[in-house]
Amino acid sequence: MDTNEFVVLKLLFLAFLVNTWMMSGTSASDTFNLEPTITWQRRLCNESRLRWEVEVCGEDFKKDMAHVDPEQWCNLTYFMSEYHLFTLCTETKSHSVDCYWPNPLVESYIIHIHKHFFSNCTVEEVIWMDPPDDTLTVLILVPVFLTLAMIALVVWCSKRSDLLA
Ligand SMILES: *[C@@H]1O[C@H](CO)[C@@H](O)[C@H](O)[C@H]1NC(C)=O
Ligand SMILES: *[C@@H]1O[C@H](CO)[C@@H](O)[C@H](O)[C@H]1NC(C)=O
Ligand SMILES: *[C@@H]1O[C@H](CO)[C@@H](O)[C@H](O)[C@H]1NC(C)=O
Repeated sequence: MDTNEFVVLKLLFLAFLVNTWMMSGTSASDTFNLEPTITWQRRLCNESRLRWEVEVCGEDFKKDMAHVDPEQWCNLTYFMSEYHLFTLCTETKSHSVDCYWPNPLVESYIIHIHKHFFSNCTVEEVIWMDPPDDTLTVLILVPVFLTLAMIALVVWCSKRSDLLA
């Protein structure tokens, strides 16, 4: 894989992560629901079912992409809604088989999809991320700060309950 392709994959993956954070307000708090007591009560994530369900999302996405002119496969304008449906599908299916979302299996599947469709896109072609640099920085930094704040809060709370105990 040459560097350009690698950069595109990273960009797409970053977009996917930012998307994830922005679209599911609950996912940040979900990640902190990992205390053993809560996981015990959850039904376990069935990975073989998840793999199957995610394949279904992928097949749907491939069908949708087949309607898009391959010449336009690097232009997000042409497949934004299909892509959105695809990520939404992986989220819904993950929850339906009691798995967290995003999860490593879904992420590696999405990378697989990206390699299939976007491996020929160069950075110049993918101007679609195109918000001004400031916006992009804010989009990236907000989740980062939120995560840090949540971690600080969790640490602070656990310290506090130590003191009270
Ligand atoms: C996961 O789902 C498959 C297919 O529905 C089922 O055969 C299997 O027993 C399930 N595994 C667990 C651990 O529940
Ligand atoms: C990428 O380019 C190669 C060589 O031109 C071609 O065989 C392949 O089908 C292309 N893949 C995509 C996803 O456009
Ligand atoms: C993507 O397609 C739209 C609509 O045809 C066009 O306006 C835009 O310039 C294209 N972007 C790129 C990077 O080719």
